Amino acid sequence: MKIRKITDRVSYTGVNDRATVRFEGLWPLPYGVSYNAYLVKGSSACALIDSVELGHSREFMDNIHEMLDVEKIDYLVVNHMEPDHSGGIPRLLEAFPDIKIIGNAKTIQMIQGFYHIDNPDNFMEVKDGAEVQLGDRTLRFIMTPMVHWPETMMTYCPEERVIFSGDAFGTFGALNGGIIDDDLDCGLYIEEMYRYYSNIVGKYGRFVNSALQKITGLEIDYICSTHGPVWHSHIDEVGAIVHRLANYQPEKGVTIIYGSMYGNTADVAECFATTLNELGIRNIRIHNAGKSEMSDMISDAFRYEGLIVGSPTYSNDVFPPVQAFLNAMKTREIKHKVVASFGNCAWAPMAAKSISTQLATLELTDAGTVAMKQSITPEVEAQVRSVAKEFVNLLTLK
Ligand code: FEO
Repeated sequence: MKIRKITDRVSYTGVNDRATVRFEGLWPLPYGVSYNAYLVKGSSACALIDSVELGHSREFMDNIHEMLDVEKIDYLVVNHMEPDHSGGIPRLLEAFPDIKIIGNAKTIQMIQGFYHIDNPDNFMEVKDGAEVQLGDRTLRFIMTPMVHWPETMMTYCPEERVIFSGDAFGTFGALNGGIIDDDLDCGLYIEEMYRYYSNIVGKYGRFVNSALQKITGLEIDYICSTHGPVWHSHIDEVGAIVHRLANYQPEKGVTIIYGSMYGNTADVAECFATTLNELGIRNIRIHNAGKSEMSDMISDAFRYEGLIVGSPTYSNDVFPPVQAFLNAMKTREIKHKVVASFGNCAWAPMAAKSISTQLATLELTDAGTVAMKQSITPEVEAQVRSVAKEFVNLLTLK
């Protein structure tokens, strides 16, 4: 990738990854992902902001060396130590042994632990609000712990009105030609932002909120995150999405998650869907948990106001992929949703009770449960209609 200018003094030095199948070994990457890094040039010094994943170090170094007017890199600011952004550090130090790595105390401990770099001359520890001058450009460090690791921070360059935001405002999707949102069709990246946030950062809403509050009031023309486009013309839109997600504020729609071995529990899921549709609900996302990606189920469940979960009894418990989904909801402490549940069994009615009990541990509004034995009947359909009516009554977004 060629060096791309974002502003007069800020350039993009990141890379695209279209080969990795699963991010963090878990989350599918159908459109790839970018590992974003940036270079800020001041009149007397220049600084890199973050690096890239280890396997892309060569490309990252090529990007830096393409900057023919840069003789040396004075600083590497490490906003985030997760290895998709710090893997390039060893190679960078080989090329620029005098570089100063800027981070907080946790960052420095992690660099030593991950990469066994322990020369104190290589480190500059900073605290919240500290600044480094690059001559006529300033870097100000803003501590934003748990967005998404404890060492996470953001870096603000006031003269360029640019914030380097770490994982906040990130999204899946490699960059298809452009770097800045103005040069890209952003529909894909915006859609993938829901999946990225809910999968990766979803557990840390209150920390994201604190970070958003800390940067409110800064003059920002460009948000440079660690993944996805540089946000410029879409700042208001992505800001609203991240704010909504961090506060668990849902959008209009219903997600139905179910497991089914032989189609009988699936019949109840379909019955819920058609009944909801008859009641005027149009945006309904249905996932067979044995087939859908967990990543997509989490994303839809996180995003929409209604959530209906169903399962057959399996080994006297909830069907394993549905239980895995419930675990993901508990981990992310989902809230502010209207929920309903249903369960089926051949002989032991465990699933329905277990799902509703588990959902009751979260801050959700329960519209009821449908329990079925073996196969759907007119009586079960009547139960579905009754629970679905209550469910729709409880939805605030219709
Ligand atoms: Fe892309 Fe939390 O790292």
